[in-house]
Amino acid sequence: MARCFVTRDLPGPALERLRAAHDVEVWPQRTAPPREELLRGAATADGLLAMLTDAVDAELIAGARKLRAISNYAVGTDNIDIAAASARGIPVGNTPDVLTDSTADLAVALMLAVARRLPEGERLVRAGEWKTWEPAFMLGRDLHSATVGIVGAGRIGNAVADRLEGFRCRIQRAGRGDDEGLQRLLAESDFVTLHCPLTAETRGLIGEAELQRMKPTSYLVNTARGPIVDQRALARALGEGWIAGAALDVTDPEPLPAGDPLLDVPNLVVVPHLGSATHRTREAMAASAVDNLIAGLAGRPMPNSVN
Ligand code: GLV
Ligand code: GLV
Repeated sequence: MARCFVTRDLPGPALERLRAAHDVEVWPQRTAPPREELLRGAATADGLLAMLTDAVDAELIAGARKLRAISNYAVGTDNIDIAAASARGIPVGNTPDVLTDSTADLAVALMLAVARRLPEGERLVRAGEWKTWEPAFMLGRDLHSATVGIVGAGRIGNAVADRLEGFRCRIQRAGRGDDEGLQRLLAESDFVTLHCPLTAETRGLIGEAELQRMKPTSYLVNTARGPIVDQRALARALGEGWIAGAALDVTDPEPLPAGDPLLDVPNLVVVPHLGSATHRTREAMAASAVDNLIAGLAGRPMPNSVN
C-alpha cells in the first residue's frame, strides 16, 4: 500500500477505487490546502493527486522524498514543474480528452454570451431597468457566419471548430509558433478564442500589440489560462474600445481580487473557471486522474502522461 495525498475531494466514485488500493488522505476543505499543508501532505506521500490550484514546484518535489507519481486533475499542467519531476523520474499525469467537449461547449457559450450581451441583459431585467421592446435596444453581433480565429492546434480547438460548422463560421487556425497565422487571424477574426496551453512561449501571447490588431467589432474569448492574456492591456483595450468585448473563463490570478481594474470595464463577461465543470466531465476527470495515479504507483506507464 502506497500513501496518497489528494488535495481536494473529487466528484463520483473514482476516489473509492483509490482508497481500495492505497492509504489515502484527502484534504478535507473546499479551498486549496495552504502552502504548508500542501508541502506537509506531499512530504510523506508516494502519490500526489493535485489540482490546478496547487503549485507542485521544485521545492515541493525536493521535499517529497518518497514521491513517485504525480497526477494532475486537469489537462493543463502549468502548475507543475515538469522538469523537476522528470529529473527525479516521476511521471506526471493529466486528464485530456474527457474534458475536450465540455470546454469547447463553454467556449461557444461565452462567444454567444458576450456578443449577444446575455449577462448584461440579465442584470438589466433584474434591476428593473427594462422598460419596453425597442428596435435598437441592446444590439449585439452574430456568431453565425462570423470569422472565428482559433489559437492553439489541439483537441479543444478542433472541437470548437466542429461546433462552429453548424454556425456556418469561417475558421482560421494558428498553432504553436505560427506567428504569421496569428497576425492574420487577429486582424481578420470577429471572434478570437484561445485554446493553447500556458507555457513560457504563450505567457502574455495576447498583449497590447495583438489587441490593437484586432477589429473594433471583435471579441476575445479565453477558456485556456489567464496569463496567456496581458490583463492590463485587455482592460485598456476594452476601456478604449479597441475591441468590442471579451469573455473570460480564466483570469490571472483566480479569482480576480475585488477592485481589479478589469471588473470595471464595460463589455466583459467573466465566469469562474467552468470549462470542464459538468457532472459527467468532472467524474470522468476523476476516473482518469485515479487511473494515472494507480498506474504510476504500480510502475506502469500512466494512460495519460506529459513526461
Ligand atoms: C482546466 O483548466 C484544465 O486544465 O483541465
Ligand atoms: C487539450 O486537450 C488540447 O489539446 O486542446
